[in-house]
Amino acid sequence: MKTILVTGSSGLIGSEAVQYFDRRGHRVVGVDNNMRREFFGPAGDTAWNLARLKSATTRFEHRGLDIRNREGVLALFKEVRFQAVLHCAAQPSHDKAREIPLVDFDVNALGTVNLLEAARLHCPEAPFLFMSTNKVYGDAPNEIPLKELEKRYEYKLPEDYSGVNESCRIDRTTHSIFGASKAAADLFAQEYGRYFGLNVGVFRGGCLTGPHHSGVQLHGFLSYLVKVAMAGEEYTVFGYKGKQVRDNIHSFDVVRAVDEFFLNPRPGEVYNIGGGRENSISILEAFDRIREITGKNVHWAYRDEPRTGDHICYISDLRKFQSHFSNWELSHSLDQILTSIAETERGQVRLGRGV
Ligand SMILES: NC(=O)c1ccc[n+]([C@@H]2O[C@H](COP(=O)([O-])OP(=O)(O)OC[C@H]3O[C@@H](n4cnc5c(N)ncnc54)[C@H](O)[C@@H]3O)[C@@H](O)[C@H]2O)c1
Repeated sequence: MKTILVTGSSGLIGSEAVQYFDRRGHRVVGVDNNMRREFFGPAGDTAWNLARLKSATTRFEHRGLDIRNREGVLALFKEVRFQAVLHCAAQPSHDKAREIPLVDFDVNALGTVNLLEAARLHCPEAPFLFMSTNKVYGDAPNEIPLKELEKRYEYKLPEDYSGVNESCRIDRTTHSIFGASKAAADLFAQEYGRYFGLNVGVFRGGCLTGPHHSGVQLHGFLSYLVKVAMAGEEYTVFGYKGKQVRDNIHSFDVVRAVDEFFLNPRPGEVYNIGGGRENSISILEAFDRIREITGKNVHWAYRDEPRTGDHICYISDLRKFQSHFSNWELSHSLDQILTSIAETERGQVRLGRGV
C-alpha cells in the first residue's frame, strides 16, 4: 500500500484518480478547496463529487487546503510522507484567466512550485506527475497545414496524420494567460526533474473528459455540450465554423497513464496525452453524435470570432507515451465517453442539477 497525494481531488481527473488508487488498496490524501466554484459559480461546484468520493472509497482522506498556501502545503508534506504525487489542482480555463490573471498565475504557477518544492524537501524519491495542457504550445499548432472538409478541419500532409508531438515549440506563440501560467508550471516541473533529479513527469492534456466533470461553458468541452443538449439550452460556437477538432480522452485512461508513469517514472519527461486520432471530433460532428446517442438536437448560436490562441485542429500524438509505456492504450472510445456523460447527466437532471 502506498500513500498518494492527489491535488484537485474533487475535479475531473483528481476524483478519477482518488477512486482508481483507492480501489487498488492505496491510501489517498486529496487536496481540494472547491475553488472551481469560485471560478465558475454554482455550476462549477465540486461538492457533489467530494460527497460521492467519500461514500465510494474506503481510505480516502480529504483536506480543504489551498495549494497557494505555501506554509500549509509544506506542513502537509511534513506530516504525511507521500510515495507518489498527482498534481491536478488548477485554474483550468483559457477564457476565465483573462479576468483573473493574478489568481490564475498564483494557482497554476506558484501553487505548482509550492508542491514541487515541498516534494523536494520531504519526499524527493516519490514520482510526481504534473497535469499540464496542450495550451503550452499556444497557437503554434495552427501553423500545421490544414484542409477544410464538410464538417471538420483536417491535417493536409500525411506526416501530420498522428497529430502534434512534444517537439512543437512552446515560445513565440500566443498561449492565452492560462496557457502561459501553465507553461511556467510545466517548465518548473521539468526543471525539478532535470535539474534536481526528482521523478517528475509532465502530461500535456488534450480534451480530458468524463462523467465526473462539473462542466461549464468556460471549461469542459464534451461534458458541457452534452449538458446543454440535454437541458435544451443553447450552445455557442466561437469561430472556425464549428469545424475545430479536439481529441478527447476519458479521465480513466488519463489516470491509467499516470499509474504507468508512477511505476516507471522518467525524470523531466514530457508527454502529450489525449484521445489521439481515433477519439478526435469537430464540434459539428459532436452535434451529430450527440443527437444519435441522446436523441437531442443541440441548439447552437455562432460567433464568428475564435477564442484568442484557440487551436483549429488539435490531435495529440500519443506515440511517445506509448513507446515508453507499452502497457497503456485507450480503453474508452468516443462513443463510450459520450454515452457515459449522457447517462450521468440524465441521473443528475433527475436529481435537480441542471446546467
Ligand atoms: N479538462 C481538460 O480538458 C484539461 C485539458 C488539459 C489539461 N488539463 C489539466 O488537468 C488538470 C485537471 O483538470 P480537471 O479537468 O480535472 O480540472 P477541474 O477543474 O475539474 O479540477 C481541478 C480541481 O482543482 C481544485 N482547485 C482549484 N484551485 C485550487 C487551489 N488553489 N487549491 C486546491 N484546489 C484547487 C478545484 O476546486 C477543482 O476541483 C488541470 O491542471 C488542468 O489544467 C485539463
